Amino acid sequence: MAKLVINGGNRLYGSVEIQGAKNAVLPLFAATVLTDEKVIIKNVPDLVDVHNMAKILNSLGADVVRKGTVTEITARDLKSSEITHVLAKELRSSIFILGPVLGRLRQAKVAYPGGCDIGLRPIDIHLKALREMNVKIIERSGYIYCDASNIISGELMLDYPSVGATENIMLAAVTTKGKTTIMNAAREPEIVDLQNLLNAMGGSIKGAGTSFIEIEGVDKLHGATYTAMSDRIAAGTFAIAVAICGGEVVLKNCKAEHIHALLSKMAKTSCNIKQIDDNIEIAAKCRRDAIEFIETQPYPGFPTDLQAPIMALQTVSNGVSIITENIFESRYKHVCELMKMGANIKIKGRTAIIKGVDRLSGAEVLAQDLRGGAALVLAGLNAIGTTVVSDIYHIDRGYESIENSFKLLGADIRRI
Ligand code: EPZ
Repeated sequence: MAKLVINGGNRLYGSVEIQGAKNAVLPLFAATVLTDEKVIIKNVPDLVDVHNMAKILNSLGADVVRKGTVTEITARDLKSSEITHVLAKELRSSIFILGPVLGRLRQAKVAYPGGCDIGLRPIDIHLKALREMNVKIIERSGYIYCDASNIISGELMLDYPSVGATENIMLAAVTTKGKTTIMNAAREPEIVDLQNLLNAMGGSIKGAGTSFIEIEGVDKLHGATYTAMSDRIAAGTFAIAVAICGGEVVLKNCKAEHIHALLSKMAKTSCNIKQIDDNIEIAAKCRRDAIEFIETQPYPGFPTDLQAPIMALQTVSNGVSIITENIFESRYKHVCELMKMGANIKIKGRTAIIKGVDRLSGAEVLAQDLRGGAALVLAGLNAIGTTVVSDIYHIDRGYESIENSFKLLGADIRRI
């Protein structure tokens, strides 16, 4: 199994092109099922999760052609409405294939989704909303059987602003006759991307990015070409890397507004930050003061996906930082690995109390999930000595060749 070997202590200089957004491209791929015409998605990152989503589309009968960062998808003759356990267990996003398959074929059989082990990750909000749209759902032996032959539009109120549930409903409602509204919708930028693609395909949706979304069902969708947004979580991860290593880096092709919750805290404690056009210039201050309080929240609050990376920074900041993970119930698997490197962290329920130390020490550590694995890389870039990160397949699910990006910025890191 591949590992990353990191010799810490190098400052980072130069620029890095931010990859296309994993969490935008996955629902965009799902949306292509809704038409029998070709849909061209640009700015597609080269990631395991994206390849697994392509496999799911292939299993349904869609034709998927990858040409570098452009993927052409034609779901002309769908031969199946089933997502097997073998495919579904590979990624959480398999669940929002449900919406478009129901929108196109009016029936589906989907295994329960997999994904990061960061919590139970139930899908009750998804299923409750689809049932309110008169989708008949039977859950049996690990599969979800859906009959949407009499699907109707509806006024839906989400108990929690779930990103995936919001996307699933949009994908099911876009070709359902009548007006469907979603109250307490998630407001993530990736949902705006999905609205933009669906409207480019002939859909009629408005309100994405706010907590109230309106979908006017249309009879048919057609092909389109769409460029996905850049990955705000990758951008945030690299921004934190500059703070933890020191240096000056330009993050290219990313929007500061998408990670404002992170950048506003970093500007006060560890970095000078400037947004110039579609680039973010980050220069690390010589002193890194701890960020006193961090609470993960739905967008536009502090993103849960940057909780582990920002924790790595707090382990070597001056003072005490208190982080509360409000979104997932089991997203601290990176803590014991950071403590192997000398971090001073205490966990009390959903709260982590971090007392900064001068430097971490290199160690052999294990990635346990995608963002926790990225946090260990950041910690290794700072640590004295050599850090070896194993099980890096977790990291490859969400970061394109993470070692090459950091190597280009001057880090001493290699994959073995
Ligand atoms: C999306 O996951 C992202 N994944 C996650 O990114 C991200 O952390 C999360 O949104 C929150 O921003 C993709 O977009 C592919 P949720 P999703 O539904 O849709 C609970 C990464 O690292 N919930 O907003 O699964 C759930 O358990 C990944 O890139 C229910 O209880 O997130 C969690 O506690 C990790 N019932 C909370 O809501 C449901 O039916 C947020 O989940 C659905 C969700």
